Amino acid sequence: MNQITLSKPLDMHLHLRDGQMLETVAPLSANSFAGAVIMPNLVPPVDSLEKCLSYRERIISACAANNFEPYMTLFFKNYAEKELAAAKPHIIGIKLYPDGITTNSQGGVKAIEDAEPTIELMQELGIPLLVHGETADFVMDREEKFLSVYQQIAKKFPRLHIVMEHITTRHAVALLDRFENLFATVTLHHLLITLDDVAGGMLNPHLFCKPIAKRPEDRDALLEAALSAHPKLSFGSDSAPHPQSKKECCGCAAGVFTAPIALPILAALFDRHGKLDNLQSFVSGNAVRNYRINPPEKEVALVKEPSLIPEKYGDVVPMWAGQEISWRLVS
Ligand code: NCD
Ligand code: ZN
Repeated sequence: MNQITLSKPLDMHLHLRDGQMLETVAPLSANSFAGAVIMPNLVPPVDSLEKCLSYRERIISACAANNFEPYMTLFFKNYAEKELAAAKPHIIGIKLYPDGITTNSQGGVKAIEDAEPTIELMQELGIPLLVHGETADFVMDREEKFLSVYQQIAKKFPRLHIVMEHITTRHAVALLDRFENLFATVTLHHLLITLDDVAGGMLNPHLFCKPIAKRPEDRDALLEAALSAHPKLSFGSDSAPHPQSKKECCGCAAGVFTAPIALPILAALFDRHGKLDNLQSFVSGNAVRNYRINPPEKEVALVKEPSLIPEKYGDVVPMWAGQEISWRLVS
């Protein structure tokens, strides 16, 4: 196959920021995707229905006419039942960050036990829990050590829909098959790179993100699950733009910017492995079924023709800037 048309492609984990950055990046996502799950880690965080609704308006106006559904999330804190019930029709889930574990996660959860009253309410109301699953252990072990927390919540709240966001290890992939109520997203970069690409040679700040890329055997397990369109796994770019000055400096911010290049690179990857037929499920079908959502009609065509990744989008350097890839979006 030298071309493919994806119906309603979705990015199930996206950072759009606010202000000028939102204006720069939102149209790029709307160009490729019918909708995306919008992360709430603004400063201050999106932690009330009022903030959520006004952020949604700013996203929609930044996308101009391009029909794009922002699936909104709230930043996890202990919410009253009334607040949750009022928010439910407007959100796809609530995003839990351990306190301080990643960019703009200050004020997150300090101990999972403290979060249980709200988690219980979420189970009752049918609101999904999206989780940044890392502990404060040694950086390569942070996800691994968090897996016991996933198991604890999955057992204690069997009717709660739990999403392990941006999984990076083979053991997280294995966990998907052990608990009916556990789902996951995986990024583009974690299907492609290992820690070697980040820090094995010259340091590459544009590949530095949380969770950090892991070992080849982890990358291979993630890739196998994605290529086979594992029914509980969806694409979530975790595209996380930072200005060039915050990446190419001492104290580089975590986050890889991939939103505008994700679909062509995924097409090239699935094509290379003879699995293009599974791309539709990975970038849309699985999420539509698991979240029971109905994204806007949008068809996105891709062709197998070389294209160059731009050096920059506004002030943001994308992954693999300046490199040639073998597929491109048909505009
Ligand atoms: C994200 C960001 O910059 O907001 N950074 C990242 O490295 N992925 C936050 C996150 O998802 O952890
Ligand atoms: Zn993220």
